[in-house]
Amino acid sequence: MANLILRPDWFIPERLASSENAFVHRRQFLRQLATAGLGVAGLAAGGIEGFAADAKPSAWPAKRNAEFDPGWQLTNERVASTYNNFYEFTLSKDVHKYVDKFTTTPWPIEITGLCEKPFTIDAAELAEKFGVEERVYRFRCVEAWAMIVPWTGFPLSKLIELAKPKAEAKFVRMLTASKPDQMPGIKRYPHYPWPYHEGLRLDEAMNPLTLMATGVYGKPLAKQFGAPIRLVVPWKYGYKSIKSISRIEFVAAQPKTLWEELQPEEYPFESNVDPGIPHPRWSQATERMIDTGDRDRTQLYNGYAKQVASLYTRTAGKKG
Ligand code: MTE
Repeated sequence: MANLILRPDWFIPERLASSENAFVHRRQFLRQLATAGLGVAGLAAGGIEGFAADAKPSAWPAKRNAEFDPGWQLTNERVASTYNNFYEFTLSKDVHKYVDKFTTTPWPIEITGLCEKPFTIDAAELAEKFGVEERVYRFRCVEAWAMIVPWTGFPLSKLIELAKPKAEAKFVRMLTASKPDQMPGIKRYPHYPWPYHEGLRLDEAMNPLTLMATGVYGKPLAKQFGAPIRLVVPWKYGYKSIKSISRIEFVAAQPKTLWEELQPEEYPFESNVDPGIPHPRWSQATERMIDTGDRDRTQLYNGYAKQVASLYTRTAGKKG
């Protein structure tokens, strides 16, 4: 995701870009993904109601939920694992080369703000508490590339229900951990308002599609995908799907996101996938699959209109 303040070194006009196939075949060095188990259950649940003391680590791969198994051809795992956006490490897509020093256990997550039951818990314990399932989702980046990925995780709604947001809470704000010594991009790109932060309306966060992902391709998340826990909001552009989350806050007013702070006209808070609303630098009419290079028409809400259209008022080509 380029921006006008800092244009990443990979940025070239779409018409000059080589096909993804060519890119992939040049790369023979692809590594095995880290498959370390969720093992360390770090912080205690701190007396949170309903947390079983004897919860067992989840088995991998998690069972696929038949409701989210449309029979689509999955994107090649090696391509998806080497074509990532994670600016805390690098502005280029080869994030996997820069994550070795990144430690993801223990991983305390603070759930706080306007809620009856704020708590702090380790990511591994969260997954054990709620149980995880596999879901195949389409994923669409604002850069007009797309992939089809089997995520493992649990609905964000479960976590929200546990925290019991107060009536004044209308939005959820999320922050990525800030570890400058392990994330080289934080020091290298000081103009970004770190830590990475994003947000959703509370009703968007409660939608059954909104997933907290702890795994992908049947294994715990590799670091470049946002280990140990990230958001996946499949009807919105990929930048809403914040990685390596360490803090979740319930707030009353619409929070500013990192991308809005940088370029509000390019990255509005809502950011639903919409072929009728071109981005200044990327037409959103079509999308390119990252492994095959196939180009398809972009679908409104990335194909999830049935599940989410009722959340929005919209007239053709315009956000409501
Ligand atoms: N989260 C953090 N913390 N930092 C980032 O740079 N990039 C976003 C999103 N989440 C980003 C992030 C963008 S622009 C996209 S398209 C997706 O992650 C990419 O997810 P993927 O690498 O799993 O495909």
